[in-house]
Amino acid sequence: MSQTPADYSGPQRVLSGMQPTGQLHLGNYLGALKNWVSLQDDGAWDCFYCVVDMHAITMPHDPALLPDSVRSAAAAYIASGVDPSKSAIFAQSAVRAHAELAWIFNCVARLGWLERMTQFKDKAGKDKERASVGLFTYPVLQAADILVYKATHVPVGEDQKQHLELCRDIAARFNRDYGKGEAIFPTTEPVIQGPGARIMSLRDGSAKMSKSDVSDNSRINLDDDADKIAKKIKKAKTDPEPLPATVEELDKRPEASNLVGIYAALTGTSKADVLGEFGGEGFGKFKPALADVAVQYLAPISDEYRRLIGDKAEIDRVLAAGAEQASEVAEPVVAEARKLVGFWG
Ligand code: TYM
Repeated sequence: MSQTPADYSGPQRVLSGMQPTGQLHLGNYLGALKNWVSLQDDGAWDCFYCVVDMHAITMPHDPALLPDSVRSAAAAYIASGVDPSKSAIFAQSAVRAHAELAWIFNCVARLGWLERMTQFKDKAGKDKERASVGLFTYPVLQAADILVYKATHVPVGEDQKQHLELCRDIAARFNRDYGKGEAIFPTTEPVIQGPGARIMSLRDGSAKMSKSDVSDNSRINLDDDADKIAKKIKKAKTDPEPLPATVEELDKRPEASNLVGIYAALTGTSKADVLGEFGGEGFGKFKPALADVAVQYLAPISDEYRRLIGDKAEIDRVLAAGAEQASEVAEPVVAEARKLVGFWG
């Protein structure tokens, strides 16, 4: 993994987050959660994993449902292997320093930088005049989430690349304008790796697997049981050709490429390895093998998720302890930023 620049001598920290808007799915797991767990288990980093409920209100939402959605995401983190005794798990809104640093960063980021963000354009749709201002400044809050811990590494899926570049721009601009060029904030490294970095819909190989897709068959949810997982793989869209021998040929076939990528990501191998085993075989043979692997990896997560979600008190205890741990790190950082911009008190 790439290193933080030599001019930054602070601790190596990891931060990442997910929106509590709908059930987490295989894309969230392979693109992010799986790497969260590896970084945590590596032991070289302090890890902070939040549920970004402040980002969730940038789009229309039901306030009555939000707290349970936060619990659900936290339960999915833990079921996936994020261990509360090793990593801080918390709700973003419980650590006020995120909002405070976000305001400072709103005054550091430039309008032109935000106007280039493709996720805003996708989410706002045609009628961007009616989008919330929060949706527009969403990536600034994301930068605050990261830099309020001076996080050096951020494990995410490929779709977050542009937001992480903006985070680096904000850090550099802050350091220049308020830090006299000193590295107050680090140049954060995105950790985007492996064949799981971009998982596509099971119904359409050109669309990202997403919580907002109307078709439940387009994704494998982290609370799907073994039977559902196998059925969704059986129904997944494919083409009539057998699997090719090379990755170059595979890349021209989006649905086939996605299924091979999922197999590779789940088993910790590469697409080339999977083709080495299944090249020349039809989907009649490959799909059952993929279903077996998916059930073997995901059914225990789904079982653990369903056990945990029944124990609200335990989840709330984890979130409270995580918020306390996170605040201890974030408060001094925001205090330093306040001082540097000249705030009162
Ligand atoms: P969100 O909630 O959309 O997604 C959470 C994480 O899952 C990854 N992901 C995927 N990876 C591979 N294939 C897919 N189909 C797929 N769909 C989602 C995302 O890349 C992400 O890593 N803006 C962020 C949340 C956020 C955040 C942060 C992330 C807020 N503050 C600070 C990192 C650091 C988001 O909307 O993620």
